[in-house]
Amino acid sequence: MELFDFTAFPVLNTPRLTLRQLLPSDAEAVFQIRGDYEVTKYNTGKAYATVQEASDLISAIESAYQAQNEIRWGITRKGHSLVIGMCGYNYWVRHDRRGSVGYDLARAHWGQGIMSEAVRAVVEFGFNHMGLNRIEADADARNVASTRVLEKIGFQREGLQREQFYEVGAFHDLVLFGLLKRDYLKGSL
Ligand SMILES: CC(C)(COP(=O)(O)OP(=O)(O)OC[C@H]1O[C@@H](n2cnc3c(N)ncnc32)[C@H](O)[C@@H]1OP(=O)(O)O)[C@@H](O)C(=O)NCCC(=O)NCCS
Repeated sequence: MELFDFTAFPVLNTPRLTLRQLLPSDAEAVFQIRGDYEVTKYNTGKAYATVQEASDLISAIESAYQAQNEIRWGITRKGHSLVIGMCGYNYWVRHDRRGSVGYDLARAHWGQGIMSEAVRAVVEFGFNHMGLNRIEADADARNVASTRVLEKIGFQREGLQREQFYEVGAFHDLVLFGLLKRDYLKGSL
């Protein structure tokens, strides 16, 4: 199995999607996603007010990729260039062979299994080409859609951090998830 070494950005294909590198020209599309409070409320907590914030995010993702700390993909429907979501590893701890996934999707595309399809591809890439042994994720306990995406793929609930963060005048619980390579392989047999 070939390990990924950052020489070329890995494009991932699924039945309906192409996951590709985010480009400066995707700023407007990313703003459409992150400018929607319904998308950000359980995630970053705050919707972007300007396209510049989306440009800054794309630059930050690119810098983290160049530093070989992160890899995040722009999600497009096959045959279309418009970015409808993002998905990828927010960190990668080489020593532990462990990475953390995060994602978000434009509201118009919710409820069609898109993110489950994208995260599955990213998880497979992590186990098969990043050499990961463990993939972790966390979600606001109120974020049922996100916890469902993780559970469908086989992530286990590993714990709940009570009142882990403060937002919009209240404390909120955070659910922790993990998926081990051996469990993933068992599940896909
Ligand atoms: C979370 C998110 C990525 C899901 O994307 P998606 O493509 O709609 O997800 P999928 O269609 O693959 O799966 C969603 C699952 O949650 C279920 N679901 C969605 N909303 C739900 C709700 N309010 N109550 C119960 N189940 C719900 C769906 O029925 C589906 O499960 P099923 O396939 O068993 O029916 C999307 O809602 C999103 O971008 N949310 C905002 C950003 C975010 O929360 N990111 C994650 C931060 S941890």
